[in-house]
Amino acid sequence: MPSVEGLPARRAALQMLDAVLRRGHTLDSAAQSAKSLKLADHGLAVAIAGEVLRRLPDLDALIDSAMRQPLPDDSKARMVLRIALAQKVGLHTPEHALVATALPLVDGGPRRLVHGVLGTLLRRGLPAMDAPRLPDGVEQRWRKAWGGDVVTSARMQISKRPPLDLSFAGDAEALAFANATGGQPLAPRHVRLNDAGPVTELPGFGEGRWWVQDLAASLPARLIPESAREVLDLCAAPGGKTMQLAAGAHEVTSVDQSESRLKRLRENLERTGLEAKLVAADALDWKSEKEFDAILLDAPCSATGTFRRHPEVLYRARPGIIRDSSQLQRQLLERATALLKPSGSLVYAVCSLEPEEGETIIDDFLSTHPEFEIAPPRDGELPNFVTPDERGWSRILPGLLESEGGLDGFFVARLVRMAT
Ligand SMILES: C[S@@+](CC[C@H](N)C(=O)[O-])C[C@H]1O[C@@H](n2cnc3c(N)ncnc32)[C@H](O)[C@@H]1O
Repeated sequence: MPSVEGLPARRAALQMLDAVLRRGHTLDSAAQSAKSLKLADHGLAVAIAGEVLRRLPDLDALIDSAMRQPLPDDSKARMVLRIALAQKVGLHTPEHALVATALPLVDGGPRRLVHGVLGTLLRRGLPAMDAPRLPDGVEQRWRKAWGGDVVTSARMQISKRPPLDLSFAGDAEALAFANATGGQPLAPRHVRLNDAGPVTELPGFGEGRWWVQDLAASLPARLIPESAREVLDLCAAPGGKTMQLAAGAHEVTSVDQSESRLKRLRENLERTGLEAKLVAADALDWKSEKEFDAILLDAPCSATGTFRRHPEVLYRARPGIIRDSSQLQRQLLERATALLKPSGSLVYAVCSLEPEEGETIIDDFLSTHPEFEIAPPRDGELPNFVTPDERGWSRILPGLLESEGGLDGFFVARLVRMAT
């Protein structure tokens, strides 16, 4: 059979989507297993899979509109149609190329059906899908928790690839970089770049002048008091927050249970020339000889706040997962209190848009730990676009800084143990 140009990338996209949607993998890990592809094909496969995941409910509705009998959810024909349509909508692939690369994917299967449905939909003309629906369960949860406007903002944000945020050790370096590149400094020690291209090709990557970190993810470390000498970063890898802390005048100990993620943290520290003591351990039973002046607990969570970069989180974060992760968060928070000095500060953060992993955790914690109280951000600690809640914590929702490209969803609260 003659080879069809671009087919390996589409075949790989099909495998990646199967790994993500049927086997619950992340897109990053699914992409890792396709590393033997040529670089350009690999990049295209990841882009196609990403575009499908950004618009899945709308793509499915479109496919269903051209069928008498809906295709099963996990059928190959449906997946191939999603891949073909997402290329047209999200990547503006020419129609002949997307049809030519779709049909061989269903060789020996319902080729005529796929051809027929694609032809019908392409003749009708595809909608823009620039504010695609999120999965039903997610929309219901977020509408109930945050209201319809937040769901509308999230729909707008999921269709676009977000800008690139860089963190710097010092503000002078950040401003010089922004001037040189036309980047936007939206907070101290931060620069935002639109259409940045590959990070390894940006100025200063090799010299470790900055690290990639969503601006929202940089907020928790900004709440660690400058005066805290010994700081524990619990659940630290791959280390964006460790590097922020190490760039300040703190002695940082970073604990994470994942060896492979700690390896990335070690590489990040080497690249940036920053220092921290790294410990591979389960935080729930790690014993420390000392207590800490401040602790940052960036707890494992459903990560639904990162849906702009990782749209698959919305399919992974089912209610059972959220329940399990909130249990672990309670245990980790409890463990952190045992490692904190009297009068110490404990910053709790999650990149989640689920109140069960943020507000509820802290509310419940305060009701059983009267020796702790919330210490709201002081003037200048957080960028002025963050308005803390009246309870004193900060909740970052889709919609904030929308015209600048948005932020990841986050929750952050600083607790202090009151002196007795
Ligand atoms: C949200 S990520 C941390 C991101 C990190 N703070 C940063 O800024 O790059 C959560 C981390 O918690 C780690 N983790 C999960 N359960 C843990 C446990 N019981 N003990 C230690 N680390 C754990 C995971 O390996 C993961 O690296």
